[in-house]
Amino acid sequence: MAVQIVSVVAGEELASGTPYESVNPARPAETVATVLLAGADDFAGASRAASVAQREWARVPAPVRGRVIASIGRLVEANTEALARLVTEEIGKPYAEALGEVREIVDTCDFFLGEGRRLYGQTVPSEMPDKSLFTFRVPVGVAAVVTAGNFPVAVPSWYLVPALLCGNAVVWKPAEYAAASAHALYRLFAAAGLPDGVLNIVFADGEQTYAGLDRALGEGTVQKVGFTGSSAVGRAIGELCGRHLQSPCLELGGKNPMVVMPDADLDLAAEGALFSGFGTAGQRCTSLGTVIVHEDVHDEFLRRFTALVRDAKIGDPNGDVLYGPLLDHKFAERYEEYLGWIQPHHTVLPGPVGRMDGEGLYYHPVVVDGVRPDDRLFLEETFGPIVGVTTFATLDEAIDLANRPGYGLSSSIYTSDPKAVFRFREGVSAGMVSVNNSTSGAEAHLPFGGNGRSGNGSRQSGMWVLDQFTRWQAMNWDYSGRLQKAQMDVAEITPDLGFRL
Ligand code: UN1
Repeated sequence: MAVQIVSVVAGEELASGTPYESVNPARPAETVATVLLAGADDFAGASRAASVAQREWARVPAPVRGRVIASIGRLVEANTEALARLVTEEIGKPYAEALGEVREIVDTCDFFLGEGRRLYGQTVPSEMPDKSLFTFRVPVGVAAVVTAGNFPVAVPSWYLVPALLCGNAVVWKPAEYAAASAHALYRLFAAAGLPDGVLNIVFADGEQTYAGLDRALGEGTVQKVGFTGSSAVGRAIGELCGRHLQSPCLELGGKNPMVVMPDADLDLAAEGALFSGFGTAGQRCTSLGTVIVHEDVHDEFLRRFTALVRDAKIGDPNGDVLYGPLLDHKFAERYEEYLGWIQPHHTVLPGPVGRMDGEGLYYHPVVVDGVRPDDRLFLEETFGPIVGVTTFATLDEAIDLANRPGYGLSSSIYTSDPKAVFRFREGVSAGMVSVNNSTSGAEAHLPFGGNGRSGNGSRQSGMWVLDQFTRWQAMNWDYSGRLQKAQMDVAEITPDLGFRL
């Protein structure tokens, strides 16, 4: 029998709500968990509770908070198989990838457990004697974190781990269709000994979350919003936060280009395109959107790429497959709309298009050759197993095509020419550039994030995310015993500026 899952606020379960069924996309008749969805009031209440708990949490020494992060890492590691199995069951991610996803949480904990003993501020010389200057990192307060379900546990950990380490409290609203995985991760965090109210999990639909967030921002109980999801929702959240003079951390969609230069290793490029485009059924924000291949190698690249696609195994995510079902009905429906963007001037390879026979939400992989720069397929993110192909003649043209859709998350170039690599890096709008590698699969300690339609320039992961979850405070301490006025009571050493050799 499927379990029932509820929100947890200040350590208390919210016993009522609107039922929602999170199903197994490989066997949609099978419910993984029934989730009781909370309302806007509950979200605002959770933010108030977090606000109260945060004050005490911020007083816990950062190295001690780091030890809690260390415990979370150990607990996640010790529960790797159970968590990965749940992820596979709930969103259809192949088990090997689900194991990688859990690994990404452990990596994130490994990185931040030591940050508890750094979280460095600076000592800075003053312009006056007997005065010292300092900087401190101060937690922002409460972070409201709203996450997607394609990485139901790893991507949330990119927010939760640094936010908590820095002394913030969190209200986490995971995707409903990945609720069981999120709830399991919440329990692992709780088992590490976080005080009640420091981490709260609220299950709610988009509308109620937005209304709850609006209220919480108005009440001053949320100081930072983290959001991973579509560009459209990110824009709405950005507008809402802007009204409250806040800048959220936005990790949005991508139309990630892969440029294949004439000197590229074509087998490597084809393999990279296969994993980038069809791994996770193309449902990563870093998934490959369009292959931009040099006209001289277009035919040969396409031949090798489509041969790999044709041979790829798609099916039961517990088996050795390239990809399993789409995440959920909602995603399958949207993906079918994207398939409607295929036009007569396109060549569709390698074979059938659309849903496969059977009950699971499995879809054929589609390569669309001949996409043009004004096609919707070229311009919009198409979350699913579809990859466009277009050609170019010069590197400048390739860079222009790579930037044209206006996203800017990830990108890739296959070449053996260092000049082309650095010109591409300089010209491409993406926050991440891979060389002779897939557009997806970023490591957990480099800055992760995008520009343009992919985000507002915020970066997650590594030391860069600290700027999302702390604010700088500057302190000056004058121990001269008199009022020394900055810029006025400053000693001057007179140079002879007319001096010449
Ligand atoms: C996402 O799809 O939201 O770089 C994140 C990658 C993964 C994370 C993807 N490490 O593909």
